[in-house]
Amino acid sequence: MSYTNILVTKKETIATVTINRPNKLNALNKDTIAELHSVCKALDKDKNIKAILLTGSGEKAFVAGADIAEFANFTSKQGAKLAAKGQETLFNFIENLSTPVIAAINGFALGGGLELAMACHFRIASDNAKMGLPEVSLGVIPGYGGTQRLPQLIGKGRAMELIMTASMINAEKAEAYGLVNHVTTLEELLPYCIKLASKISNNSSVAIKYAIKAINAGFIHDVDGYATEIKAFGTCFGTRDFKEGTTAFLEKRKANFPGA
Ligand code: COA
Repeated sequence: MSYTNILVTKKETIATVTINRPNKLNALNKDTIAELHSVCKALDKDKNIKAILLTGSGEKAFVAGADIAEFANFTSKQGAKLAAKGQETLFNFIENLSTPVIAAINGFALGGGLELAMACHFRIASDNAKMGLPEVSLGVIPGYGGTQRLPQLIGKGRAMELIMTASMINAEKAEAYGLVNHVTTLEELLPYCIKLASKISNNSSVAIKYAIKAINAGFIHDVDGYATEIKAFGTCFGTRDFKEGTTAFLEKRKANFPGA
């Protein structure tokens, strides 16, 4: 499948998806959101792919936000529809994907760009990265899950301050806040993420799928995360990966997971 606004490369078990609108600092327009949905869906179905890296093209931006030009003239109804559709097709979709998605934040991650990074399972940033949710400076609020995921990741008080002031924080502060897990140089960003993704690839993709499900369940108000964990834990016992993982341990050899 060919895409206009994203680039996709695959190496062994790792796919790298690059948002490729450098002239617009990789701003997320409707077509890019649709393409990201479609590529994530296809990669999730690809049994050879064990981890996905998401990054932006160029050296300046991961994603500088939702495409402001596209929604500047919207009505309230169109605004609500934009947020609902975006959340459903991309942001919630990535958060609940069975295949781990790592955001490699290589520059500005603002507004919808930071929301996209926060929807990924975890984030690594290069030291030139700048992050923020500046929507209130445009007279709007974050609409792709930012008011929910930012407080989950950095705490309510810090999220309130960052959103109300529309400020950007640098990579060092983002790491101190727990918004990103590690900071590297720009050159080291993708190699570092690939190393992490390779480590993930050695483990049971089935168990990882259930771990994602159980962790996410704890953040849904009417779902019991502990009960979800118990059920998922039990399900793992019926998988070939579990048989292989435990047998390999007892036979003192490296597991070779069938991914089923
Ligand atoms: N939507 C649409 N276009 C965007 C964009 C966005 N979110 N962010 C950047 N662009 C475009 C600019 O309009 C410009 O296009 P042009 O060359 O056709 O005029 C191009 O990308 C380069 O951006 P520019 O502003 O010239 O770069 P800069 O280095 O001076 O500033 C930023 C970088 C990130 C500080 C600035 O682009 C910015 O504030 N962007 C908007 C951030 C934002 O509010 N995001 C939340 C949206 S909800």
